[in-house]
Amino acid sequence: MDVSLIGAPTDVGASVVGCRLGPGALRLAGIQAAFERFGATVVDRGDLTGPVNPMAPPVDGYRHLAEVTEWNRSVHDAVYAEVSGGRMPVLLGGDHCLAIGSVSAVARHCREQGRPMRLLWFDAHADYNTASITPSGNMHGMPVAVLTGNGPQDLVELSGAVPALATSDVRQIGLRDVDLGEKHLLHEHRIEVFDMRYLDEVGVREAMRMALDDLDPDTHVHVSLDLDFLDDTIAPGVGTPVRGGPTYREAHLCMEMVADTGRLGSLDIVELNPALDVRSETARLAVDLVESLFGKSTLLRVHR
Ligand code: ARG
Ligand code: MN
Ligand code: MN
Ligand code: MN
Repeated sequence: MDVSLIGAPTDVGASVVGCRLGPGALRLAGIQAAFERFGATVVDRGDLTGPVNPMAPPVDGYRHLAEVTEWNRSVHDAVYAEVSGGRMPVLLGGDHCLAIGSVSAVARHCREQGRPMRLLWFDAHADYNTASITPSGNMHGMPVAVLTGNGPQDLVELSGAVPALATSDVRQIGLRDVDLGEKHLLHEHRIEVFDMRYLDEVGVREAMRMALDDLDPDTHVHVSLDLDFLDDTIAPGVGTPVRGGPTYREAHLCMEMVADTGRLGSLDIVELNPALDVRSETARLAVDLVESLFGKSTLLRVHR
């Protein structure tokens, strides 16, 4: 597997600043070596550049729409160049608004290749807000809505088709902080959600089995890993931490089960906020999870 690291050092989509420092912190924590330990060949493409964070209030429901759009165009172009060249793009964020660009690029590629795609959204949040229902105007709270066709036109059209992704291609895992307007929209659009209550009741293994069911042999799996997916006690270095998330082992099981499919095609690691990451524990946890995603397992895996 040929992996390409793409840094996107910005927090234009958030209101807590700091995840602009994420790419550097992930590199320092050894992200490249983690891929290499499991047989990947890695090229680090360095950091994209883009507009500074204006730290402005929202306008018509969106904070920093112009800057968010510009960053996402760059991310889209960089991710598309890698994935269409047969490589696995890994986006080092940056805040989660950047998944609009990365997932749009992957969706464009899959459409061109006639391949199905599955988006696995690991997050405490649904990121399904729109301008009219957002409590914050922060665009990192909107990418899934944008990708499924609800949002500002330039971003909704980024993949070259609207919507970039069918709602039936999305699985959300780990949710526990969903705004009331989002709950209504998720329900209305029939997004498949495995929230924390569901994980508590049926267990991570069964929930992941369901999130991964019906994969075609050529399905491209994209993992969008918001580090606030993890319980805040093990991953405090994020801008919007939420209690009651998966434990260390539960999170690893999720990644191991994705690895078992053999279909991982692209990855976002987002929302790391090094300014809040005491002793870099969240960055190191992200690196641990990458190892599991790339096949680290306690034993030789037995194929069932
Ligand atoms: N739902 C909240 C909002 O829209 C929080 C979103 C947090 N999203 C994230 N990617 N951390 O503002
Ligand atoms: Mn989140
Ligand atoms: Mn099914
Ligand atoms: Mn998110």
